[in-house]
Amino acid sequence: MRVIIELDAELASRRCARFVADLVRKEPNCVLGLATGSTPLLTYRELIRMHKEEGLDFSQVTTFNLDEYVGLSSVHPQSYRQFMQVNLFDHLNINPNGTNIPDGRALDFEAHCRQYEQRIHDAGGIDLQILGIGSDGHIAFNEPGSSLGSRTRLKTLTSETIRDNARFFGGEDKVPRLAVTMGVGTILESRRCILLAFGAHKAAAIRDTVEGSVTAQVTASALQLHREVVCICDEAAAGLLVRRAYYAEVERAQSLLEAGERTQLGIGNQLG
Ligand code: PGA
Repeated sequence: MRVIIELDAELASRRCARFVADLVRKEPNCVLGLATGSTPLLTYRELIRMHKEEGLDFSQVTTFNLDEYVGLSSVHPQSYRQFMQVNLFDHLNINPNGTNIPDGRALDFEAHCRQYEQRIHDAGGIDLQILGIGSDGHIAFNEPGSSLGSRTRLKTLTSETIRDNARFFGGEDKVPRLAVTMGVGTILESRRCILLAFGAHKAAAIRDTVEGSVTAQVTASALQLHREVVCICDEAAAGLLVRRAYYAEVERAQSLLEAGERTQLGIGNQLG
């Protein structure tokens, strides 16, 4: 896992937006996996700026969101469909038919989840999945104990997640108890993942995810099995990482490689 530690959430989000923008420019018809919550907000703001000021074109992009609360209609102010419209889609030239979010009001969830997986498959799979992380180490709504091979399905929220999200609903009793969410297995099939984490309240989850064991008790730790994950965090979220000096070394080498400074890395040197 590549670990990039930026000074603050603003810089980290700009870094994330650059990864997204590079892909959209290179593959205009790419498939993005998107997340909700407070974490990706600054990334979305930067993508909107790039669209408006630099002409970043989303007209051919397809998106799939990770999850949706069960019981909320797409126009409910706290639904993730509304979140995406207000914080991203309404400000881009994206084709509304190309934006996919699970339906929290589906009548037959088993069929709906199967169709959602099929739609991802038919679109050619997700090229780049953006992820936040819960304070309990969840990705999407894959709460601790979720199967690491799980697919899109219904999931019961933990009391920790309900407490974390109560601020959006004006009280814990108003937070839905169930969500429909992509599974860990679904997420692991994305070609590339970017895991974002900001703030000291995410530090333990990031430590367990990056440097802990792979365990269903911290579903984000399954990302250690993925071939291309970039974890971008701010200083506070990185606060409990033990190997940060090494991550910085890797980033230095990466920048030299990208700048074509190969000899400084010993490439092509005759050492013996
Ligand atoms: P947050 O939520 O971005 O609002 O912190 C992340 C999550 O629970 O996945």
